[in-house]
Amino acid sequence: MRIASRRLSHQMLFYPLVFFLFLLGFVFVLTAVGSIDDENKYSNTGCMGRKLGPKVMGRSLESTVLEEIYRIFDQPYDKDELKGKSDIPETLEEFITEMNKGGYDAKTFAIKLREMVTFMERMTRTAQIQKYKYRHVALNSIPRQLHCLDLRLANEHANNAAARLWLPSEEFIPALVDNSYFHFVLAADNVLAAFVVAKSLVHHSLQPQKVVLHIITDRMTYYPMQAWFSLHPLSPAIIEVMALPNFDRFTKKEAHVLETMEKDQTVRSRYRGAFFDDDIVVQTDLSPLWDIDMNGKVNGAVETCKGEDKLVMSKTFKSYLNFSHPLISKNFDPNECAWAYGMNIFDLEAWRKTNISDTYLYWVEQNTKSDLSLWHLGTSPPGLIAFRGNVHTIDPFWHMLGLGCQENISFDDAESAGVVHFNGMAKPWLDIAYPQLKRLWTKHVDFSDDFIKSCHIMAS
Ligand SMILES: *[C@@H]1O[C@H](CO)[C@@H](O)[C@H](O)[C@H]1NC(C)=O
Ligand SMILES: *[C@@H]1O[C@H](CO)[C@@H](O)[C@H](O)[C@H]1NC(C)=O
Ligand SMILES: *[C@@H]1O[C@H](CO)[C@@H](O)[C@H](O)[C@H]1NC(C)=O
Repeated sequence: MRIASRRLSHQMLFYPLVFFLFLLGFVFVLTAVGSIDDENKYSNTGCMGRKLGPKVMGRSLESTVLEEIYRIFDQPYDKDELKGKSDIPETLEEFITEMNKGGYDAKTFAIKLREMVTFMERMTRTAQIQKYKYRHVALNSIPRQLHCLDLRLANEHANNAAARLWLPSEEFIPALVDNSYFHFVLAADNVLAAFVVAKSLVHHSLQPQKVVLHIITDRMTYYPMQAWFSLHPLSPAIIEVMALPNFDRFTKKEAHVLETMEKDQTVRSRYRGAFFDDDIVVQTDLSPLWDIDMNGKVNGAVETCKGEDKLVMSKTFKSYLNFSHPLISKNFDPNECAWAYGMNIFDLEAWRKTNISDTYLYWVEQNTKSDLSLWHLGTSPPGLIAFRGNVHTIDPFWHMLGLGCQENISFDDAESAGVVHFNGMAKPWLDIAYPQLKRLWTKHVDFSDDFIKSCHIMAS
């Protein structure tokens, strides 16, 4: 799909991209928008595009216009090119209104379009930087290229039977509940991130034919996820893709391991499983995790209270819970060590002998009753409480934290860990990722893949 030059691609914004795609006759966006039935802010643009294209261009889009667009967008960018211009359309709507007034030739159209794209790109950059300062927004912000990927894949799902395979295929269904396999559970709403986890896991496994990866996603991401993994199989590993009705990308951090386990029958079988966040990368064979003697404990996790740094590795209960509240101070020790989510081993057999889930729900309820004064929202605090006494400390090699918030982690240190976790805001798929660490993630992405290329996802 050649929309514009490479130079343009990273300058592009999602909305203009959708608009372009429409303009150039890629109906898939509309199909995709049509097949995603949920809280969809893009359908507006889609509909707008639908009404708009013919009006702007007359009945059919002439090839000279396309050529003009290619040509104009191919010209090198100049930092000052918007300087002193007062008539740049600042939004898509303005642009459309302007164009509907008519009287524009192909060249003017292309120039205006380019000016608008450049302008919007700048605005977004500024806005992005602002946004990243606010954690909750940052956690939910997914770059436009990844939205594009979701749309492309949703379209592929709708139009290509090969992108709708049941995962796994029938012959492998028994393996899903077979104890002799290594079971991994990944909660993800980001297709590319999920693939990096899966690929790095399988790539480093010494027995990939023994790997079963259960990918849990939300309803909206299910089709793109299924399409991607249908078209990019990781055999001999077995991949299962399933949607949880209540696992929603906007509350993902709330729907953590525990709820996930509660709601899913497959996962509740008898095996030991490793649970991943989607912002990790596996860098070694993980089968030794199954040899760890958990001493009857439920959750194998890395402790986060013995490190030097303030941000990640010096956390105790008082970092998470409000010890000014009598309900907390009466029941817990402020200096008890905290542990990390993101790469945990759970012994599901041991789990079933406990009342961890009840305890968890009990404390979530207490917090609600106390107007959220026991802790701020999130799953870590009630998790810490619920698993108290049931955590087995594992070697930090298995879970190196902080790659999304510790700027001074060196590449060599990170590379030598078994699993690295980009917890924090500087996710490896965002522009703000730390440059020296990003490669640990990008090396698992095939940037020559058609889907990746068509959404202008690039290595840097
Ligand atoms: C990174 O910086 C933090 C705070 O500035 C410091 O405590 C920590 O020791 C540093 N880590 C490394 C690996 O240099
Ligand atoms: C969980 O079990 C322990 C011991 O069996 C008990 O002391 C505790 O009250 C139980 N907690 C809840 C919330 O049921
Ligand atoms: C902590 O608990 C105290 C006592 O209930 C309450 O006054 C205070 O507002 C709480 N702090 C936060 C940050 O919720």
